[in-house]
Amino acid sequence: MARAALVLLFVWFFSRVVYVEHKLCPSLRLINKISRLERLRNCTEIIGSLQILLMERITTAKDFDKYVFPELKSITGYLMFYSVSKLTSIGKLFPGLRVIRGREMFLHYSLVIFGMKDLREVSKRMNK
Ligand SMILES: *[C@@H]1O[C@H](CO)[C@@H](O)[C@H](O)[C@H]1NC(C)=O
Repeated sequence: MARAALVLLFVWFFSRVVYVEHKLCPSLRLINKISRLERLRNCTEIIGSLQILLMERITTAKDFDKYVFPELKSITGYLMFYSVSKLTSIGKLFPGLRVIRGREMFLHYSLVIFGMKDLREVSKRMNK
């Protein structure tokens, strides 16, 4: 009995670990409010594309400080940013992003950045 409980506990614990290490998320289109970025929490891979659009009422770059997603490693489709105020670095938002596969593209592009007037860099790694 105790052994069964132990096994169950182990299975529960292990499934939690696996769940946290691989959280697959669907395509997301995040619009308008910076708080929508919360939907990216713990995502390790986006199966599809990620669009972050029309966040124009952000007042300071500091607003992005709590939105850092180091877990996100890859996006199978494309990544698009359009008109997001005060975002200065995409690498700061997604420091762990290693690959954008481009299996789905936007007008032949897998990375689309436009109307980003405060952007200074894509990522430190790319600039080097
Ligand atoms: C993200 O992971 C943390 C730590 O494992 C957990 O507390 C939190 O509920 C998770 N949030 C989401 C949205 O998955």
